[in-house]
Amino acid sequence: MRIPVIAGNWKLYKTIGESVAMVNELKPLVAGIEGVEIVVAPVFTALGSVSAALSGSAICVSGQDCFWEEEGAFTGEVSPKLLKDAGCSHVIIGHSERRLYFGESDDSVNRKVRAAISAGLTAIVCVGETLEERDARATFTVVGKQIRGSLDGFSADDFKQIVIAYEPVWAIGTGKTATAEQAQDVHEYIRNLVLMLSGNSVSDSLRILYGGSVKPDNIKGLMAQPDIDGALIGGASLKAATFAEMIRICV
Ligand code: 13P
Repeated sequence: MRIPVIAGNWKLYKTIGESVAMVNELKPLVAGIEGVEIVVAPVFTALGSVSAALSGSAICVSGQDCFWEEEGAFTGEVSPKLLKDAGCSHVIIGHSERRLYFGESDDSVNRKVRAAISAGLTAIVCVGETLEERDARATFTVVGKQIRGSLDGFSADDFKQIVIAYEPVWAIGTGKTATAEQAQDVHEYIRNLVLMLSGNSVSDSLRILYGGSVKPDNIKGLMAQPDIDGALIGGASLKAATFAEMIRICV
């Protein structure tokens, strides 16, 4: 049995005060809900305060990125160790916005995932094709290359700390969700690829999340698919009531 993950990626939104207010509102709305891993990913500056506000709660805190070195002369970077120190248990790595705007490659994603795992974090590794790539019928080729490159060299033990998020770039922030069937096709492809690369027990227990315009009105259909194990939610995760509603639909 794979425990579903519902993760809110807050991207570049919310001050420290707004972030803390959001989780204080969220906590009672999801208190007592079991059988789902709830994750929020605020901006770096809010991580410590959000973690403190969530102490004693089951809601997990995630970074939105990390660097692969633990420390050193790397101005502006944040290491997995420092995310841990700020109270994180998860980190999102290789989001398409980082690939697109900040030159993230499968190679850098791979190094970051390695570092995150070593620091004891769960890595939420993002993959997904652009609209041009989908139109060119290259979805599986693109996603396959991202998975092979980003996750090359990881053991079955490492995979216990890896979650994959399939986020078609054309569905992010556009209101165009992939249909449940379109998403399931790619999730099934990913699980079969991981089966081929890492074996049965890894692929069976791997959580694969869908991301891209997930909303209260489409999450149920997505979650009903056999290979969809949760959601990575942007815009609709910013309001506590909406986020809690989606969590409730999933349990
Ligand atoms: P939206 O839910 O706003 O489309 O964002 C998805 C996403 O990028 C989550 O990481």
